[in-house]
Amino acid sequence: MDFTSLTMLWWAIALLFITVLATKISRASITNIDPQCTTGQRPPVVHEAALLKLVPTLLKKGLPAMINDLYVKYGSVFTVSCLGVTKVTLLIGPEVMAHFFQGLESEISHGNLFEFTVPMFGEAVGYGRDTATRTEQMSFHIEALRPSRLRSHVYPMLQEVEGYFAKWGEEGIVDIKLEFEKLLMLISSRCLLGKEVRENMFDEVFRLFHEIEDNGVTLISFLFPYLPTSANRQRDRARIRLTQILSDVVECRKSSGTVEEDTLQKLIDSKYKDGRPTTVAEVVGLIIGLLFAGKHTSSHTSTWTAACLLSHPTFLRAAIEEQQQINNKYKDKGLDYNAFIEMDTLHCCIKEALRKHPPTPMLVRMAHRRFTVKTIEGKQYDIPQDHIVASPTIVNNNIPYIYKDPEVYDPCRFGPERREDKIGGKFSYTSFSGGRHVCTGEAYAYMQLKVIWSHLLRNFELELISPFPKTDWSKFLPEPQGKLLVRYKRNGVVHPLN
Ligand code: HEM
Repeated sequence: MDFTSLTMLWWAIALLFITVLATKISRASITNIDPQCTTGQRPPVVHEAALLKLVPTLLKKGLPAMINDLYVKYGSVFTVSCLGVTKVTLLIGPEVMAHFFQGLESEISHGNLFEFTVPMFGEAVGYGRDTATRTEQMSFHIEALRPSRLRSHVYPMLQEVEGYFAKWGEEGIVDIKLEFEKLLMLISSRCLLGKEVRENMFDEVFRLFHEIEDNGVTLISFLFPYLPTSANRQRDRARIRLTQILSDVVECRKSSGTVEEDTLQKLIDSKYKDGRPTTVAEVVGLIIGLLFAGKHTSSHTSTWTAACLLSHPTFLRAAIEEQQQINNKYKDKGLDYNAFIEMDTLHCCIKEALRKHPPTPMLVRMAHRRFTVKTIEGKQYDIPQDHIVASPTIVNNNIPYIYKDPEVYDPCRFGPERREDKIGGKFSYTSFSGGRHVCTGEAYAYMQLKVIWSHLLRNFELELISPFPKTDWSKFLPEPQGKLLVRYKRNGVVHPLN
């Protein structure tokens, strides 16, 4: 099959997917008749014929370019009619995002978009529970991963990173995408799950986790999570076994009174507002949920950072120089939490890779009540109840009145002189979402990525051998396509304290 037919096939699948997805989310709508009947203007509607005209753009330039064309033509609020059945309203730009991010769950929520996670994480947590319980459980995640807790993760992260790269030779060629995936699993196992898993059952736990994940996010499992397919059965078997293993770890800690510094422990120690402690099943579900939320997002980001940094020598040099300075400053006590917080250049390099390649390119919600948005031009639109509302991060992060030359990889845009991510207010940069469902793991994600990249920049000369990767849109979370081959050579610099 040639490239064009493949793209057409994916486009057909995507259209079908969006339609079924939209129908699925709508099923969960809380029909809630709004007493104040709509008086404002409805958003302009993009009909199927107009969409068809954009197929060449889609084929030549991809989905983000197509949505961007719609944005240029219709403005920051428009409704796409899918096969005449379902309507999806797109909101683009920070001015129209406040309700999307901050509205109450009873007014705007994920609907049942995440229903597929129930058989993956268990019924005790998340979308298996009522909204109030789920909200409290989200606060356990927030508490367990809050930046002040990160201090205790830095040393274990450093140890994992050093141990991993110590196994590389003097020089060689690696698929850095695969290397990051493996390393990030080791870090998660140590910092999130704890030493029992890391030391004694890493292979089995991650084999089971992969089985849950691979079988839990297929198109069929996503749309029909309870259909008795072989993938769903495999997913269920793997979750039962994983739950047994992790439950034993939790129960063993509880009965022996052992207290560890990892995230699992924080979840064990969490209590609901009424004083009730988390149950074993809840702790296990919550930790599996965290593994799932952090795994691909972090590994795709580290790979995109490699592709971007290694193809921009000026920024690569700046990041290496920063490492030298910080390493000199901390040479007596070794790199610690504060040292990593000071790595602003590296932080901006990762943040810019994430702006251009957000792992979650589209955020979706269901409007349970009508709401109104006002565009930057002052136009007011009513978004009707029961509409699916989508915000394409991939377009939001490239708005030209916020980001100068948005197509250019330029980490300096986040520096103190420009601060472009603040220009449009707090929803200008949405790679980690915002408001009520903002990513709980943002600080943790940056920390682990900085620990990895700091080590690479201090110890190796790196050269990108593969061409700059395309985005593979066929994946559940789009990722850099294919392998990313990098040539490495140890730079001979000794860092005795790290
Ligand atoms: C670069 C890495 C990451 C990116 C780009 C990222 C991005 C996101 C985004 C966009 C959302 C919100 C989705 C929405 O609004 O519908 C989200 C939610 C979440 N993320 Fe991350 N994430 C990353 C890493 C992590 C890590 C490492 C963890 C945990 C260890 C984590 C835990 C979570 C959780 C628990 C939520 C759900 C929050 C809620 O619904 O209240 N993430 N993430």
